[in-house]
Amino acid sequence: MRREAKRHPWAAAPVVARAFAHYTEAAGGPPWAAPVRNSEGYMAQRPIRFGIAGLGTVSNTVLPELRDHPNVTIAAAADVRPEARERFTALYSVPAYASVEDLCASPDIDAVYVLTPNPFHATHATMAAERGKQVVVTKPIATTLADCDTMIAAAERHGVRLMAGTTPAFTPVIMEMAAIVQRGDLGRLLLVNTWWQTDWLYLPRMPEELDVNQGGGVVFRQAPHQIDIVRTIGGGMVRSVRARASRGDPDRPVEGGFMAFLEFENGAAAAMTYSGYAHLDTTEFTYGTDAQGMPRGPEKHLNTRRRASSFVGDRNKEATYKNSVRLGGIREGEWGGERPTKGHEFYGLTIVSCERGDLRQTANGLMIYGDEAWREVPLAVRGSEREAELDCLYEAWSADRPLPAHDGRWGKATLEVCLAILESSREHRDVVLRHQMPHTWTHQS
Ligand SMILES: NC(=O)c1ccc[n+]([C@@H]2O[C@H](COP(=O)([O-])OP(=O)(O)OC[C@H]3O[C@@H](n4cnc5c(N)ncnc54)[C@H](O)[C@@H]3O)[C@@H](O)[C@H]2O)c1
Repeated sequence: MRREAKRHPWAAAPVVARAFAHYTEAAGGPPWAAPVRNSEGYMAQRPIRFGIAGLGTVSNTVLPELRDHPNVTIAAAADVRPEARERFTALYSVPAYASVEDLCASPDIDAVYVLTPNPFHATHATMAAERGKQVVVTKPIATTLADCDTMIAAAERHGVRLMAGTTPAFTPVIMEMAAIVQRGDLGRLLLVNTWWQTDWLYLPRMPEELDVNQGGGVVFRQAPHQIDIVRTIGGGMVRSVRARASRGDPDRPVEGGFMAFLEFENGAAAAMTYSGYAHLDTTEFTYGTDAQGMPRGPEKHLNTRRRASSFVGDRNKEATYKNSVRLGGIREGEWGGERPTKGHEFYGLTIVSCERGDLRQTANGLMIYGDEAWREVPLAVRGSEREAELDCLYEAWSADRPLPAHDGRWGKATLEVCLAILESSREHRDVVLRHQMPHTWTHQS
């Protein structure tokens, strides 16, 4: 691992304390909250230099977050679209390559953030690991378990960290819920309910996003969020899945919603419901706040539906629109982008039931409904879920130790649940899981 001898003044910044400030307020701090030292006893020497693979829609949101993170530098990118490369270089004054292979060969990056479409995650993550780069892959980490194994093996062989990124498990509210459950404050965990209604299916999509064989549809694209929420709160070890995934529109022949029942090895159960059909919006029940932590009006779904109706029978028109909202497109910023003032992120509504009380997310933090009293626990809003994940990666990298959370095996276990939802729905039966791993990293007070 590359290290510089010189210690910079900013290097003593208490990164963990900043990202996990809500823990300090609430109860003690996470287990890895001790100051990060390298082998010479110093804090990290310099920011981690990221190359971004894929400058599409989500890069509009991710790039400003990387730019604003104190221990991250945007050092390069790759995309097959020339207009994206041109725009990226104009914004960040660093090179943009036409292939991920060339990006991974650059000596000027330490890590690659994989934001290419789902079918490319495994190839691009493996390529990065083989060039000795740390790797963060957006959800889902891959589309098959065999691909996960290839990625994990490449990371282990080359001594780099592979992180399953972009997960609401890192949001302050979900981490706090998991901590309360793990400490047993309200007794044993019984049930987790998570319910989310969006317009995912009717947003402008590329053809592969509407093809389950290429990792399209809401089970691959959205379920990982809900699965990470319930696995984080429920202890990680899902025993079995029973599910029904729905296809509600022949013009968009892919899963647009699902209901899944998960049994955990510890006896707890979780129910996950997702609808991406652009009718009722669960932000009506979450203080008008969406998964970006941004305000969202009820008219959004009607607008999405209206726009989608103009694409019926014309996939090229739809692809042209989607292209226009990506980095370098004429509508760049219409979808995602800077989030200067934001609230807590709501991936729908999550309710946790334990023996002696319930938990629910609120605008300010979470409500605890106990046997004899109810109280609200305020939690600090953070930049984004990615801020905490970048902190984790940075600290592991700079201290030369393994990731404390959300490594490739965690991502594989989450993907296993996605695949089980599809399998259970297809075969009308319970699917027993074999590749789960426990969630162990929430703080204990
Ligand atoms: N859209 C979102 O809100 C969102 C949010 C979180 C995570 N994600 C995840 O991020 C990934 C990308 O989603 P998106 O919506 O930004 O997709 P997108 O189609 O808008 O962007 C993908 C980008 O990758 C580029 N690309 C495609 N093939 C490439 C290749 N072989 N080499 C280099 N570049 C290539 C495309 O030109 C495009 O710029 C997906 O895995 C998705 O699950 C998306």
